[in-house]
Amino acid sequence: MGTDKESRISYFDSLNQRSPIIIRKCTLDDLEGVIEVNERELPEDYPYFFYKSILDNYPESFLVATTDDGKVVGYIMWRVEKTPAPDSLRFYNKGHLVSIAVLKELRRKGIATALLSNSMETIKKYKIHEYVLEVRVSNYGAINLYQKFNYTTHSIKKRYYRDGENAYYMTKPA
Ligand code: ACO
Ligand code: ZN
Repeated sequence: MGTDKESRISYFDSLNQRSPIIIRKCTLDDLEGVIEVNERELPEDYPYFFYKSILDNYPESFLVATTDDGKVVGYIMWRVEKTPAPDSLRFYNKGHLVSIAVLKELRRKGIATALLSNSMETIKKYKIHEYVLEVRVSNYGAINLYQKFNYTTHSIKKRYYRDGENAYYMTKPA
């Protein structure tokens, strides 16, 4: 049951009212809302079955942020990848941050921070060795967020994105 818990944060809206944001596991019913946030906020879009397979395989670390009427305003999803260890004699698991986004209207209110900290805890249960992610070298806000969580730039992936932009490959020991 422990992993089914919701957590709540709140922010002050334009009328200075305290409004709650709920952080909880994504359900099948949330996927449409997740896709909508992704399409609004990120140029990297994925087909429905991609989200569905992440939800099927890694449901513990696929989280959404919603308003109290259930509207999805942010999400985070991870997958686990098996890779050769540096000594190449063994394999180990990496937790790969596939995607995170928060609606523009609700940024800088700690939503991504809550999504990241809750999901890093649950992805760790897949016995991962490190957390990894790629981020556009121009994405100052996201890079800043990851640095706050002590991710460091491991390398640059040249022309990682379809439009030719480079990615920083950032990692953190789990
Ligand atoms: N400029 C500078 N620092 C920033 C910015 C910014 N625009 N946004 C976040 N940060 C840093 C700050 O240190 C911030 O703390 P502060 O507000 O106390 O200064 C800290 O991150 C935490 O910010 P949150 O409020 O938790 O982050 P937010 O909910 O605004 O979401 C996110 C951050 C997800 C990057 C959001 O801007 C977004 O959705 N961007 C578009 C989608 C995107 O770029 N996603 C990441 C792609 S890479 C990937 O998915 C692996
Ligand atoms: Zn990636």
